[in-house]
Amino acid sequence: MTMASARADMARLYLADETQAIEALIARARPSAAERAGTETLARDLVSRVRAQRRRGGLDAFLNQYALTTEEGVVLMCLAEALLRVPDADTADKLIKDKIGSAHWEKHLGQSQSLFVNASTWALMLTGHVVKLGEGAQDWTSIFGRVVQRSGEPVIRQAMNTAMRIMGGQFVLGRTIEEALKRGGDAAKRGFRFSFDMLGEAALTEDDAERYTRSYAQAIASIAAHEDKRRGTIFTRNSISVKLSAIHPRLEYVKHERVLKEILPRLMPLCRTAREAGIGFTIDAEEADRLDLQLDIFDAVSGASELKGWEGLGLAVQAYQKRAPAVIDWLSALAREHGRRIPVRLVKGAYWDSEIKRAQELGIDGYPVFTRKASTDVSYLACARALLADQTAFFPMFATHNAHTLAAVKTMAGNRDDYEFQRLHGMGEELYDQAVGGDRLGVQCRIYAPVGTHEDLLAYLVRRLLENGANTSFVNRLADDEAPIAAIIADPVDQVEHMNPKPHPRIPLPADLFGDRKNSHGVLLSDPARAKLLTNAIAQAVERDLDARPIIGGVVQDGQPTAVFDPSKRSRQIGTIVTATPDMAARAAASAVAAQFEWDALGGEKRAEILSRAADLFERDAALLIGLCVREAGKTIVNGLSDVREAVDFLRYYAGLARSEFAAPKLLPG
Ligand code: FAD
Ligand code: 2OP
Repeated sequence: MTMASARADMARLYLADETQAIEALIARARPSAAERAGTETLARDLVSRVRAQRRRGGLDAFLNQYALTTEEGVVLMCLAEALLRVPDADTADKLIKDKIGSAHWEKHLGQSQSLFVNASTWALMLTGHVVKLGEGAQDWTSIFGRVVQRSGEPVIRQAMNTAMRIMGGQFVLGRTIEEALKRGGDAAKRGFRFSFDMLGEAALTEDDAERYTRSYAQAIASIAAHEDKRRGTIFTRNSISVKLSAIHPRLEYVKHERVLKEILPRLMPLCRTAREAGIGFTIDAEEADRLDLQLDIFDAVSGASELKGWEGLGLAVQAYQKRAPAVIDWLSALAREHGRRIPVRLVKGAYWDSEIKRAQELGIDGYPVFTRKASTDVSYLACARALLADQTAFFPMFATHNAHTLAAVKTMAGNRDDYEFQRLHGMGEELYDQAVGGDRLGVQCRIYAPVGTHEDLLAYLVRRLLENGANTSFVNRLADDEAPIAAIIADPVDQVEHMNPKPHPRIPLPADLFGDRKNSHGVLLSDPARAKLLTNAIAQAVERDLDARPIIGGVVQDGQPTAVFDPSKRSRQIGTIVTATPDMAARAAASAVAAQFEWDALGGEKRAEILSRAADLFERDAALLIGLCVREAGKTIVNGLSDVREAVDFLRYYAGLARSEFAAPKLLPG
C-alpha cells in the first residue's frame, strides 16, 4: 500500500455506503475463539471489580440521572452550553426562564442514592447551594415557584454557572501547566503518565491562534523542565496533545494552500522544542472535515529534515469514521517512507453528534461516521488489530474507558508491552485502577489531562457531557446498576452481525432528512476529490461566453449589451448583459398579470410540479450558478453553494405547500 493509494481509499470511504463499510470490517475485527473467551472473562472481571469498588455519588451518577434520554438532561445540556456562551445577563435570564420552567425536576429528587445528584438537583434548580428539605419537601413545585419568585433568574444563572464550574473542575487537571504537573504527582506515583492538553480550539482570530500557540510553547517548556530525558523513552515520558484548529483560525480544506503556508511556521518550532526536550507530541483528531488537511500537515512536518527520525510525532485516529482503516494504511506507508515508528492514539471519536448534524445540514451524499455505536466498536477493534500487527510502523495508544474494549485489546496484544492505554482526566479512573500496576493487569496507561480556565473549557465540557449522557455510552451504562454485566460487555462483532439494517433506522440519510421533500444537494468541499470535481465544473461553466438578457413570455429580448467584470479581478470580463428598459418592465408585468389566471387555474399539483422541476434544474446547473455567484457577485464557493441550495429548498418547500394547501378548497376560521 502506498500513501497515494491509501488516500484514494480514504476518498472512496469518506461517505461510503454504511452496510458495505462495516461489513468490510467485521472479519478484521472478529476475535478467535480463544480471544473471545479471554476478552469475556477479563471484561466481566473488570466490570465486577469496578462496580464493587465504585465510589458512589460522583459525577457519573449525576450524568446517569440526567441522561440525555430525559427531558431534564437535555435542558441541562442546552443550558450548560448556552450559558457559558451567552455574553449578557439579560439574555441568559430569559433563556433560563424559557427552559427551566418546563421540565420535571422533581422526578429526579431522591431518585439516586447519590448525595451529589440530589444536591445538584437542588443546586442547579434553586440557589447554587444545597437546600435543606423540610417537611413540606414533597410539594416541590410550590417550593420551586416560591424560590424563583423570591430570588429570580439571576440567582439561578449564578447557580448554573457555579454548577458548570464544578463540573469543569472534574475534567480539568489544573488552571496552569504548573498546577497540573503538581496535581498529577499522585497519579504519577501510581504509575500513570500524562499527555497535557492546553484547552482551546477552533481559533476564530489570528490573536486567538497566537495566544494558543504561546500556551503550547510554554507548556512544552514546563513539561520538559519536569522531565528527566535520561529516564524512559519518548513513548513512556509525559507528552503534549495539540489541536491544530487552535493554532490556525481557518483550518479548512478549501484554504488548503494558505493554511499549510501559515501553520507550518507555528507548528515546526513547537515540534523542534518537543524533540529537543525528549517529549512526545500528539496531534488530536478533530472534526472529520479537517482530516485531509491534518494529514497533509502531518506529512509536511514528518518530512522536514530537522525532525528526521523523530518518533515523538503522533496522531489520533477516530474509529467512528469510515475512513479510519485507510488512515492507518496511510500512516503505515508514511512510517516506512520516513523509517520511524509513529505513535498512534486510537479513539472512537468525540464529535459524533455534530458530525451527524453537520452532514444533514450540508445535504451531502452520506455520513463520514457510522450511525450505530456497535459499528464504531467493531471499527475500533479492526483498527486496533491493524495497529498491533504493524510493529515496525506503530507505537499504539488505545484511548478508551470501555472495559470490553480494554479487555479485547489487552487480549489481542497478549504479552506485548510496546503499547499503552489512555484515559481522560476525570474519567475511567476506577477502571484503570484495576488495570495498571504489576498486581493488576500490568498495563501502561497515560492520562490525557486538560489544562486551562473555564473560558476555554466550553467545547471540551460539552463533548464530555454529551459522551457521558448518551445512554449507549459505556460509562453511562456502567453507572446504571440495572444494566446487567452481560449486556454491557456484549461482543460488538456479534451485535453488528445481527443488526438489520446495518445503518441506524432512525437516522435518515442527509438527502432524506425532511421526509416529505428531498433535501437540497450539497457538495462535501472538504473532500479533495469532490472539491476538485466541483471547481473544475465551475471553471468550465464560466469559461463560456455568458450573455444575460431579459426574457418576457419566454422570448429573449434584444438590446445593447454591456460588459460585466469580475469584482475580484477587475480586468476579467465575465460576459455581457442587456439591462431591461422601462418598456420591457411594463410588458413583463402585463404578461405576468395575464398569466396569473392560467397559473391559478392549474391547481396545486401542477404548480408543484413546475416548482419541483425548477428545483431540479437549479441542481443540474449548480456549477454554473455557483460560478456566477463567485464571478459576478464576488462570493466564495461555499456562499454560492449555499445560495443555490437555499433556492432549491425554497422551491421544494413551496411545492410541498402547494400540494397540501391548494389540493382542495379550505374553510378558513375567519
Ligand atoms: P464507549 O462508550 O464505548 O464509546 C462511545 C463512543 O461511541 C462515542 O464517543 C462515539 O465515538 C461512538 N458512538 C456513540 N454513539 C454512536 C452511534 N450511534 N454511531 C456510531 N458511533 C457512536 N476523541 C477525538 O475525537 N479526538 C481525540 O483526539 C481524542 N483523544 C482522546 C484521548 C483520550 C486519552 C481519550 C480517553 C479519549 C479521547 N477522545 C478523542 C475521546 C474519545 O473519542 C471518546 O472518549 C471515546 O469515543 C469514548 O469511547 P469509549 O471507548 O471510552 O466509550
Ligand atoms: C476532546 O477534546 C479528548 O480530544 C478529545 O474531546
